[in-house]
Amino acid sequence: MTSELFDKAAGDWDKNSLRLQLARSVAAAIKNTVPLNNDMSALEIGCGTGLITTELAPHLKSIVATDTSGGMLWVLQEKINGQSLANIETMQLDLAADDNPLAGRSFNLIYSSMTLHHIKNTAAVLQKCRQLLAPEGFLAIADLEKEDGTFHGDMGGVEHLGFAPGQLAELVSKSGFSQLNIATAHVITKENAQRQVRDYPVFLLTARRGEP
Ligand SMILES: C[S@@+](CC[C@H](N)C(=O)[O-])C[C@H]1O[C@@H](n2cnc3c(N)ncnc32)[C@H](O)[C@@H]1O
Repeated sequence: MTSELFDKAAGDWDKNSLRLQLARSVAAAIKNTVPLNNDMSALEIGCGTGLITTELAPHLKSIVATDTSGGMLWVLQEKINGQSLANIETMQLDLAADDNPLAGRSFNLIYSSMTLHHIKNTAAVLQKCRQLLAPEGFLAIADLEKEDGTFHGDMGGVEHLGFAPGQLAELVSKSGFSQLNIATAHVITKENAQRQVRDYPVFLLTARRGEP
């Protein structure tokens, strides 16, 4: 269901300037917080049209960009072909689902932006991230701070009304991560469905895979 909604939105996704600004801020926050280098392999969960992945690609060795929406991945694949972004591989994947075609692979960085609130079982995804990260690997999650339900006009596919950063941090720690850091990466100012102009802060939580 969620993937159908995003399939429909994919063609016009990059026309929304608020999304472009958000992606630029999150990519900059990741670059400022995680010491990226060209030996690192990365995985994005919920890459959409690749707004963040295409920004990070020059600073990394390789990226597997995953999403449940074939429409989103198609738009990203067009960018990869057009811009010769040879170090990005796209993959249609629901990391929260049981079977995992990435099992056995290992990444130095896993990142995600505005996707976790679409995934019901947050703990299951964090566990998968831990399994897929190399020792000392980095996790970087950007998402909405807890909101009152006015952010999304259409609530289809929304599983969480953002996250209280402290509560998410507790869950991340319990899932086997350490060296947590949380900071505001961006504030989305927009008119919501109630026609009120509101600020919606977006945090970036970073952490490292702890010892086994
Ligand atoms: C709000 S969009 C954000 C896209 C992109 N990260 C960006 O910043 O432009 C959420 C994305 O998460 C994807 N998504 C939703 N549920 C997912 C899941 N369980 N696994 C992977 N991707 C998912 C959607 O298809 C959509 O592309």
